[in-house]
Amino acid sequence: MQLTWSEDLSVGNEIIDSQHKKLFELFEDITRNPQTNLDRILEEVGNYINLHFAEEERWMARVGYPDISEHRQTHKAFVDSTLRMKMDHIMGGKLSPKQLTKFLQTWLVEHIQGCDLQIKQFCLDQKKDEIII
Ligand SMILES: [Fe+2]
Repeated sequence: MQLTWSEDLSVGNEIIDSQHKKLFELFEDITRNPQTNLDRILEEVGNYINLHFAEEERWMARVGYPDISEHRQTHKAFVDSTLRMKMDHIMGGKLSPKQLTKFLQTWLVEHIQGCDLQIKQFCLDQKKDEIII
């Protein structure tokens, strides 16, 4: 399974695509700096994910995406439980930076493929010009 951004993960919205790329970069930083900057990187990841989800949810609302509440729930579930749990684990030394990175990358790829690309498909089906912004 691919764990980096590539064109097939493009949702057709430049801002969202650039944020997805940035998230992959932040996840890579965890592997590169497992000890020295881990606290800072994890905080940065959390902040950036919140910013990204908010942007994506504004996009869904703007284009009238019908499954916005389900999609929002997947974001909320990730922020509320999984990410925090994984971060707690790593802070307690139970999860290695590499394992955490793999988890985050896998979640992101699966989320883009399973959920975010449906927004793109909806926009294409509706012929929404706003897909590219
Ligand atoms: Fe999403």
